[in-house]
Amino acid sequence: MTGFLDKAYGTKDTAATRRLYDDWAASYDAEIAENGYATPGRCAAALAGFTTDKTVPILDFGCGTGLSGLALKLAGFTVIDGLDLSADMLAEARKKGIYRDLSVVAGTGAPPIPKGQYSAIAAIGVIGVGAAPIHVLDDLMRALPRGGKCVFSFNDHALQDPVHEARVMEWTDCGAARLLFREHGDHLPGIGVKSNVYVLEKA
Ligand SMILES: C[S@@+](CC[C@H](N)C(=O)[O-])C[C@H]1O[C@@H](n2cnc3c(N)ncnc32)[C@H](O)[C@@H]1O
Repeated sequence: MTGFLDKAYGTKDTAATRRLYDDWAASYDAEIAENGYATPGRCAAALAGFTTDKTVPILDFGCGTGLSGLALKLAGFTVIDGLDLSADMLAEARKKGIYRDLSVVAGTGAPPIPKGQYSAIAAIGVIGVGAAPIHVLDDLMRALPRGGKCVFSFNDHALQDPVHEARVMEWTDCGAARLLFREHGDHLPGIGVKSNVYVLEKA
């Protein structure tokens, strides 16, 4: 299959990222499944391990076509909202019937998430090279209440750029968050890419 994966790590700004995902929306699930996309299941299991009440609404930021929402649902979460840059990815997510609400975000400035609305936020396969910039991690952490949890992943491309892990440490080093979980494992085994999965708890 001629796909988009080879282009996904090369976009340079928000407009280019949105275009890429709009164009990719119809074939994303097939191409990603063909390469064994493992990160959503790993993230969902990690978050579930630190969650007692899975009926509390959670946000799937950068939900794309809904593969991350599907993994969260399979891990037991029952009320999931989704936000994404790409209207075409969201249209695919809508078809899956997993989400309570789905909305487009501009991708410039902080996303419109009322502070404290969600006690858990996921950003699965979202932050990194050719995707959302690292300040999105700050935006999501600021939107959480105390004790709220953010599960997110950095793939090997993101891990090669030290700004990504450094931002996690900025949150933990000053005591603003606690690192509950970090694990390196499969991301897209079909192309030999791995990822780190993190769960941060806001102090
Ligand atoms: C690799 S896909 C992951 C989608 C989904 N979470 C999954 O695991 O399949 C990355 C998604 O992040 C979205 N995205 C990229 N930058 C974003 C931003 N700044 N704000 C919101 N969504 C963004 C893209 O539109 C795309 O749907």
